[in-house]
Amino acid sequence: MQALQSIQDFLKGVKMDSQRAALLTGVACAVGSVVVLVKKISSHRKAEEKIRRAKNRREESLQRGEQAVLRYKELHPTTDSAFILTLSLSELTQQLKEGSLTPEDVLYSYMEKTLAVNKKLNCCTEILLESLDQLTTVGSNKDGLLYGVPVSVKENITFKNHDCSCGVVINLDQPAEKDSVLVQVLKK
Ligand SMILES: *[C@@H]1O[C@H](CO)[C@@H](O)[C@H](O)[C@H]1NC(C)=O
Repeated sequence: MQALQSIQDFLKGVKMDSQRAALLTGVACAVGSVVVLVKKISSHRKAEEKIRRAKNRREESLQRGEQAVLRYKELHPTTDSAFILTLSLSELTQQLKEGSLTPEDVLYSYMEKTLAVNKKLNCCTEILLESLDQLTTVGSNKDGLLYGVPVSVKENITFKNHDCSCGVVINLDQPAEKDSVLVQVLKK
């Protein structure tokens, strides 16, 4: 009789324990899923912030590009942008070399066109405003094959101080430390 009683007690204990274990596992799972959810929400928010910052950078550079073009046009009302845009690459390099066109005229004409096209196609991630600084030194490089010719580079080509995101959020907010070889060669 006594042995049976103690077996029954033992079984009750086991039952209690397994219930408790189930409860604890349930709680642990709930805590686990709450942690996962919180992590998910916070990484989603971080991604959204990164995208917002990238959009702001883009907006700012486009606006500054637009202002720079307006200023240039005010100061150089006779620049014939429409004509410049009709020139082929060889005509453009020729005229730049001869000096009948200046790198400023060409850059601002192309920048204006780029901004107009971007309004329709949303194709620019940024205007590389460094190009405006390059205008001050480009004169020392008149022998370059592409002297004064503006070049746009696809966003996946690493350009110093700019993100090379390839359209992937995780790559945002990581400006490149140096130019890719392609950009180095183009800047020469
Ligand atoms: C950039 O993207 C183009 C395709 O659009 C690809 O051909 C090229 O290899 C890419 N360049 C780099 C450096 O990833």
